[in-house]
Amino acid sequence: MKEKAVVQMVDVRKSYGSQEVLKGVNLSIIEGKTTVIVGGSGQGKSQIIKHILGLIRPDSGSVIVYGRDISNISKKELKKIRTNFGVLFQNAALFDSMTVFDNVALPLRERTKMSEHEIKKIVSEKLVMMDVEGTNEKYPAQLSGGMRKRVGLARALVLDPKIIFFDEPTTGLDVKKSNEIYRVFSKTQKDLGYTAVIVSHDVPKIFNLADYVALLYNGVVQGRGPSGENQLSDSPMTPEEFQLSDNPIIKEFVETTMGPLYLSEMEV
Ligand SMILES: Nc1ncnc2c1ncn2[C@@H]1O[C@H](COP(=O)(O)OP(=O)(O)O)[C@@H](O)[C@H]1O
Ligand SMILES: [Mg+2]
Repeated sequence: MKEKAVVQMVDVRKSYGSQEVLKGVNLSIIEGKTTVIVGGSGQGKSQIIKHILGLIRPDSGSVIVYGRDISNISKKELKKIRTNFGVLFQNAALFDSMTVFDNVALPLRERTKMSEHEIKKIVSEKLVMMDVEGTNEKYPAQLSGGMRKRVGLARALVLDPKIIFFDEPTTGLDVKKSNEIYRVFSKTQKDLGYTAVIVSHDVPKIFNLADYVALLYNGVVQGRGPSGENQLSDSPMTPEEFQLSDNPIIKEFVETTMGPLYLSEMEV
């Protein structure tokens, strides 16, 4: 089956005052796959996610979601498109005054007309899936950091979104807990088949999960070739292609974050 881009950013530019953050971003998100966005702090990774969610509009260029350019559509249409999205931000953003059950049930109560009976069934399913069953009546403050992230993920999944965005989902967790979270991602993605977009610093670990990798540097997604700094809009790179890229900026990133050891392992 031919791969389908569910999101395409085409030459997206965004400035704040005199600071040009995005300088012509091209990025395709492929259906049913995991795309990982990497890059230094402040490069604009979260800006990319916010553009796709329609929280920010580009100064120029297009953000195409399921074939619709969302850069200048009405609020109502945007709202409809957003029903496809699930989001898990850095701090999991649970409501402290609500129980785990109520936190996960919230999107169902706000966005659907389901009965409490149906809600209970779905919430329980998702909590089991995330391996946090039995926490229904607990408050977020009573949970460990890893459990909070799992509950956040359960909430992100509760409306069965087609695309899920994770912006630095393991921030604040130790290595073991981060690995557990990535295992949960990997498993749920296989089970549910959603499209995932993950912003992460956890290189090289995250490469095991990634189908595609995009390095944001100097306001653009870096392309694979030696002088093609700007990626073509329909040209996502696999982790293997990324690691073997001739682009000097990608080479440098691979060497500093993954080290020569990893490269030599690849060559064996
Ligand atoms: N509302 C805003 N006003 C001014 N500058 C902003 C705003 N939002 C983001 N920026 C700037 O955009 C740049 C990229 O931010 P961000 O996407 O959060 O980076 P990253 O997620 O890669 O760490 C930063 O330099 C930040 O200061
Ligand atoms: Mg960020």
